Amino acid sequence: MKRFRDLMVVSLVLVVGLAPAALAQSPAEIEAALKSAHARYKDLKEGANADYIPALAKVDPNIFGIVVVTTDGKVYTVGDVTSEVSIQSISKVFTMARVMEEQGPEAIASNMGVDATGQVFNSIVAVEQHKGAEMNAMVNPGAITATSMVKGATSEEIWGSIIGTYSDFDGRKLSVNQEVYKPEAETNQRNQAIAMLMYAYGHIKAEPLRATDIYTRQCSVNVNAKDLAVMAATLANGGKNPLTGKQVINTQNVPEILAVMATAGLYDDSGKWLFSTGLPAKSGVGGGILAVSPGKFGIAAIAPPLDKAGNSVKAQKAIADVSNALGGNPYAPKPR
Ligand code: DON
Repeated sequence: MKRFRDLMVVSLVLVVGLAPAALAQSPAEIEAALKSAHARYKDLKEGANADYIPALAKVDPNIFGIVVVTTDGKVYTVGDVTSEVSIQSISKVFTMARVMEEQGPEAIASNMGVDATGQVFNSIVAVEQHKGAEMNAMVNPGAITATSMVKGATSEEIWGSIIGTYSDFDGRKLSVNQEVYKPEAETNQRNQAIAMLMYAYGHIKAEPLRATDIYTRQCSVNVNAKDLAVMAATLANGGKNPLTGKQVINTQNVPEILAVMATAGLYDDSGKWLFSTGLPAKSGVGGGILAVSPGKFGIAAIAPPLDKAGNSVKAQKAIADVSNALGGNPYAPKPR
């Protein structure tokens, strides 16, 4: 009996030890895909830094790094993956995740909605179309509403919950870039107006200007390309950080988060993005983009110059090339 049990233990260890890698490609092939994408786009001179937020105009436009983090915890990098930029709208994904953890996906779907607006990310027309409903948490009206829904008795308690969630998704303590936050808070009157409209239509229940300030703070959190790729990989890995092993959010909430990213993560260019990559993704005017290949990897790139839709030109091209080289498109089934 003992011999049989020992045999079972050995075979179990063997099976676990042979768990298939997250990707079919070898590390050398993955590194080659990163290197060729970086070489192809590093000298591209399209787009321009965001300038409606004073501090963003001063960021080095030549920052360009790409990172892949696989769900079995391997990290592949190329270029500048340590320079930090403000996370900006990418933060919206993780604040929505926080609200879903506290109140469930229905709290999001029944309040600001989960549908694309087809408008720019800070459109007021989009609010008026359905009185603040039929939107999503990736555009500013829905995002500020999501921030207003995070539980906490004080601003500091709410903020602690938000920054703690972001840091868990990444696996290191993240913080606010005060040189971004201060000027953005002094010039966020449009977002204040958006928040007041969402309050008037009953989607923000209280203190719309406090929600706007906390939202501005969340947008000013500093991240590098590796941070964004780990955060994406945590989503790719069912809410479990593949580097720290921490289960950051409930696995069953991940599909809804990825669905809203796929629908509206790159705003009115989300359809074009999905057509060429199939990846749920989220952009930020700081120049970052992260994308998720469910069960396989998180990928991110930072390059500040943006296109007219507010999405990083180089990051879009680089992420699309690398993901397609690694078979990242979840809509590409292989025939049996
Ligand atoms: O609220 C704003 O306008 C900025 N803090 C964030 C906008 C943004 O990142 C849009 N994404 N491309």
